[in-house]
Amino acid sequence: MEQNNLIIRKPTPEDDLEKIAELLYNTDPYIYPYWFESVEKCRKELAPLLLEDKFFFSLKNLYISIEPTDNEIVGVVCILDKNCDLSYDYSELKKKNERYAFTIENYIEGLIKEVKEADFAYISNVCVDANYRGRHIGKTMLDYVIDIYKKKLYDHIVLDVLAENPGAIKLYQNLGFEQFTEIFKGFNDPKKKRPDVFSMESKIKNR
Ligand SMILES: CC(C)(COP(=O)(O)OP(=O)(O)OC[C@H]1O[C@@H](n2cnc3c(N)ncnc32)[C@H](O)[C@@H]1OP(=O)(O)O)[C@@H](O)C(=O)NCCC(=O)NCCS
Repeated sequence: MEQNNLIIRKPTPEDDLEKIAELLYNTDPYIYPYWFESVEKCRKELAPLLLEDKFFFSLKNLYISIEPTDNEIVGVVCILDKNCDLSYDYSELKKKNERYAFTIENYIEGLIKEVKEADFAYISNVCVDANYRGRHIGKTMLDYVIDIYKKKLYDHIVLDVLAENPGAIKLYQNLGFEQFTEIFKGFNDPKKKRPDVFSMESKIKNR
């Protein structure tokens, strides 16, 4: 679909998968720098995994936005629900190194379990390219994805946000999300202090 000239759609294998991996890396300053060590490694290592159908970040679970004047991928959203097939076998990836093992066991597998048991859709990642922020791309992309889930008859959408990310919190509040949990400790490098996180939900049925 096209909205304000922005194209929003599911990605395909022909898209720039390394750019999508880079945007996913930039969604959280704690999880991905620990998991992949650097954005360059993330581009190389995460991009091929996006092609795996049952992987957490399978292309099937993503939406991207493209700025048509530059033909650039400028945003990504990852959204999961209990109907997503998330049964990828992570055993080989866990052997890759301790960062992969720790992140998959303490972050990815926990989220998969939560989503598979949930009655809500869960937005795990949102990112807009730093050069394109402040142009309502994040809002337009999320509006689009929320409408899809409303049509799928989901009552509410949930996400977790870093308490130190006022820009994202404002964006979510503008879209009707409200905090519904206490602050809890999020994921980080096990040797470092864990960040403050809370969950927000939007009751999309009434949108
Ligand atoms: C958060 C993020 C996705 C916002 O994307 P964006 O396209 O720049 O946001 P939009 O232009 O759609 O903003 C929509 C509204 O959200 C609010 N908002 C967004 N970014 C904001 C910021 N940095 N500071 C204050 N308010 C902000 C504003 O109310 C804005 O509406 P307005 O411009 O009419 O006031 C983007 O900054 C980003 O990718 N950040 C890094 C990754 C990240 O933090 N992801 C969220 C993880 S939970």
